[in-house]
Formats: sequence, C-alpha cells, structure tokens
Amino acid sequence: MRINSLLSSTAPARDVEIRGWVRTRRDAKDFSFLEINDGSCLANIQVIVDADSPAFEGLRDVATGAAVQAKGELVESPGKGQRWEIRATDLQLVGPADSETYPLQKKRHSDEFLRTIAHLRPRTNKYGALMRIRSEASFAVHDFFRKRGFVYVHTPIITGSDCEGAGEMFRVTTLDHAAPVDQAEPHAGDFFGKEANLTVSGQLEAEPLALALTDVYTFGPTFRAENSNTPRHAAEFWMIEPEMAFTDLIGNMDLAEAFIREVTIAVLESCANDLDLFARFVDKELPATWDMLTQKEFARMSYNEAINVLENSGKNFEFPVSWGIDLQTEHERHLCEEYCKRPLIVYDYPKTIKPFYMRVNNDGGERPTVAAMDVLAPRTGEIIGGSQREERMDVLEQRMDELDMDARPYWWYLDLRRFGSAPHSGFGMGFERFLMLLTGVSNIRDVIAFPRTPKHLEF
Ligand code: 4AD
Ligand code: MG
Repeated sequence: MRINSLLSSTAPARDVEIRGWVRTRRDAKDFSFLEINDGSCLANIQVIVDADSPAFEGLRDVATGAAVQAKGELVESPGKGQRWEIRATDLQLVGPADSETYPLQKKRHSDEFLRTIAHLRPRTNKYGALMRIRSEASFAVHDFFRKRGFVYVHTPIITGSDCEGAGEMFRVTTLDHAAPVDQAEPHAGDFFGKEANLTVSGQLEAEPLALALTDVYTFGPTFRAENSNTPRHAAEFWMIEPEMAFTDLIGNMDLAEAFIREVTIAVLESCANDLDLFARFVDKELPATWDMLTQKEFARMSYNEAINVLENSGKNFEFPVSWGIDLQTEHERHLCEEYCKRPLIVYDYPKTIKPFYMRVNNDGGERPTVAAMDVLAPRTGEIIGGSQREERMDVLEQRMDELDMDARPYWWYLDLRRFGSAPHSGFGMGFERFLMLLTGVSNIRDVIAFPRTPKHLEF
C-alpha cells in the first residue's frame, strides 16, 4: 500500500503493509520509532516497533536512508501531527544504508550541495514535492489541450533545420571526431549524409500538422547550446508548443493566457500540500503570485509602448533602452513587476530581432515589426514566446532572402504556403520556467531531476 492512501484512511485497519525509505529512526527504552516515506506524498508514516514484538528483530541494521518493508496494524496515533501510525508486527530490511556515509542527514542541505547528489535529492521533501508537482502539471497541460480538441503530436528530436536561427544547436553525428574531415563533403560519411542537430523547438514540424489537423500541440524535450550560465537557462528543457490554424496573434495571446491560468488552477488543486511547502520555506510571496496568475487578467502592451514605459521609468538599466533592442530580464521584470504588477504580454516586436517565420506586420516604414508575442511573468521574466506565422509565400521568401538563409532545405516549409496556406499561430512555453513560477524556485537546476548546463553532465 502507498503511504498517501494509508494516511487518508477513515478507519483503523489490520494487516497493512508499506515499503519505503527511512527518514529518521529514534529509539526509546521499550520501542523504536521509524519515519518512513515512499514518495507518494510529503508526509511520512510513523512506524512503532515494540521491543517485545517479533518485528524488533528486523530493526537491527535499520538506519536513515535504508529501504524497509513493514507490516502491521494501522492505529490512531496518540502523537501530535499525524492521525495514523503503524504498529509493526513484522519489519524487513530491504536495502541497508550506512548511516556514517549516507549524504542526506536530518539537517537542511543547501540547494548547491543537493545538486551534487541529484541521484539522492528526490528523497528530500523539497525535491520529492517538486517531482510530484511536475507530474501533476504535465497531466494538467494535456488536460487543457484535450478539453479543447487539440491533437497531441510528436515532433522529431533529431532535425535538419534550425527553427530559431540562433545557431545554438547540438550536432548529431556518427562521425569519429578524431578522424580527418572531408572538407568538400563534410557529411558524406555521416549517418544522415547531411548536417543533423537536436531540435531547439518542435514548431517547424508542428506547423504542417496544424495545417492538416487545425489545432495541435507538442510537449517534448528541446536542446539549446546557449553558453549562458544563468539560473533560467538549461541546455535540455521541456517545451509545450501549441500550433493553431486559422488563428491570429490575438487568438494566440488569448490561448496563452488561458493556458497559464487554467494549468495553475489545476495544479493548485491537485498539489495543495506539496505547494504549501514552497510557500512556507521557499518564497513567502507565492500565494500572491498564484492569485496574480489565476485571478487577474494579464496586461497587454505593444513593444513600442513597452519601450516608452522603460524610457520614462527614470531607471538606470544595465542594458540601455532604445527602440530595436531585445528586452533583457531587467526590463521584463520592471514592466511586469513594477509597472503592471501582474503578468504581461508584449507583442509586435521589431522584425530585426525575431526569427524568419514570424508574420511581418503591415506597419512598414522605419520601424517594421512582426506579429510576435512574449508572456512575461513576475521574477521569471519570459515564460512564453510565440507568434503568428508568415503564411504569405512572397513575404516569407523575401524575408528568408533578407536573412541570407538557404531556402532549399526549407522547401517543405515553403510548400505549406503553396498548397492551402492559412493564417496560423502558436507559442512555446518552457515547462521548467513555468515550474519555477509556480514554486518560487529560483534556479532552473532545481526544477528538473537531472539538469544539463554548460560543463555539467554528471548523471
Ligand atoms: O522564445 P523561444 O525561443 O520560442 C521558440 O522556440 C518558438 N519556436 C516557440 C513556438 O512558437 N512554438 O522559446 C520558448 C520558451 C521561452 O519563452 C522559455 O520559456 C523557454 O522556451 N526557453 C528555455 N527554457 C529553459 N532553458 C532555455 N535555455 C530556454 N530557452 C527557451
Ligand atoms: Mg523567446
């Protein structure tokens, strides 16, 4: 039986059985207490082993960290803090742990230390809770789209195209890197016979599926070789990417806002106990953030307005503000936290700072923009990036030309504009960024079980 279901029992029970890991052991004269956790919930169950019970025999080598199996009776607990406990009739040591060298002792450990033992940290309250929240949030994402009739599609991990054009791709090859390279045909002997990379986004391949199935989404791993060692960037992260045919930028923003709100509400409901831990120990402001995400309409302003607000803020930003810059985290945080005091969607960004696929607005002139939108959240900054896609063949070709892109590998992408093209839009939400927002955890390395960042690939 799992500990969460035992702890929510409504009546005592005979012959219960649990398996889990010992969090603490305390010995009194006539009995011992074990606190056992099996990851099904935050709470441990207390197991009492009387000195005269047959279970006492099994206790000998049981210490913090050991895996055990206990059988006994579920009885009302006279102690404070828990309703039920188990009086053991049998106790088996499944796997011992040396109490001298087991790295997780009772005291609180720093996040930095816990990252060095990522294989053991899921056994702490905080990381156990995080993994359960991550799981519930994943299901809530699927529920959200399923309710709306979206088709869940799987876009490839290995790809021949660079969606974001930022050159942050991880190469995929079977060539021996020590062997000499054929300069004329560097990929001739390679597995695919051409350059291949890990995907930075499923978008380009989601578009053909949306232009057949209307509303689709992907939820999968993405990879970016950004050499930025920030608390918000990981080299491997999970992205949720809806793509919708017959939808413009406004419809895209509406979906993004509803998405964040409804998934947050669902997780608040299904993970109340686990989230409470973060509100108590990680970020006291969390309940206010949750209210902001679920109760308030998001603010919306164009990039032009955002630049005005920043220029008139009277603040000295590290990165100076002028029309045409890409917004930095400090700018995003000012707009969101100080100016709007709620999540904010900025739209219509300068064409020059955005990828080739974004739809060119009809504003022409000296300051051309594209139909892009970013959702900015308190503390986290950018959590969603999306756009309406360029569906006009001539405009797209011209844009690729301007960017000096070789259009040949994108023949299939251009084909979509040739046969039954339609306005369409979509966005990507970094799942880890969303978890950071929900839990107040400030480092992306602490919301994914085995983080990948520059020079770190231990596990
Ligand atoms: O803004 P981005 O680059 O947008 C795209 O990739 C589009 N193709 C998505 C689309 O329209 N389908 O990335 C989307 C989101 C960001 O807003 C951020 O939340 C997250 O992905 N993200 C990262 N998360 C963690 N580590 C990184 N290195 C990230 N890079 C982007
Ligand atoms: Mg972006």
